[in-house]
Amino acid sequence: MTDLTPLLAFRWSPRAFDPDAELTAEEVAALLEAARWAPSAGNAQPWRFAVGHRQDETWKRIMVGLPEGDQGWARHAAVLLLAAHAGGEPERSAYDLGQAVAHLTVQATALGLHVRQLTRLDRARLATELDLPGDVRPLVVAAIGRLGDPATLPADLYARETGLRRRRPLAALLLR
Ligand SMILES: Cc1cc2nc3c(=O)[nH]c(=O)nc-3n(C[C@H](O)[C@H](O)[C@H](O)COP(=O)(O)O)c2cc1C
Repeated sequence: MTDLTPLLAFRWSPRAFDPDAELTAEEVAALLEAARWAPSAGNAQPWRFAVGHRQDETWKRIMVGLPEGDQGWARHAAVLLLAAHAGGEPERSAYDLGQAVAHLTVQATALGLHVRQLTRLDRARLATELDLPGDVRPLVVAAIGRLGDPATLPADLYARETGLRRRRPLAALLLR
């Protein structure tokens, strides 16, 4: 198998976060800077973010937009980051936002942090809770923090957390 650059090889999406760890202001700035410098169609930069630190007002307002089943583990994340896209053609700006968040995950790996993204969200509730302008479309929440102990997860999530990560074989992805 081709060797990946370690920043990609070591990235994965846990649910077990260290409930005591916090992110420094410098770490958050680096994550946002990585997103800011992502490429976008026409350099439109349609990404917008709301950053909540554990138990602050923004974090609580993002938390209520998550499914109850995810709140149990997500409450241990040091940061909940709502990623939204604004203006333009939604399909195009959603693509750009995804790319910006991908850059953020790579930067997180470089900082020894982990990210789990969530798209099963109550978007209408998030827009209301965060008082988002009408043209700002919430798309994903990134739970960010330092790795926690998987043994603290419920049994079903523990099994998923410690199970093998799988991908389709490359041959199955190639159209021709
Ligand atoms: C756009 C996006 C949406 C996701 N939504 C959810 C979600 O709603 N709930 C969840 O538990 N994980 C979610 N994930 C995490 C994926 O399940 C995870 O990335 C995938 O299983 C691959 O695992 P890995 O990131 O460890 O390689 C999401 C990931 C992405 C990129």
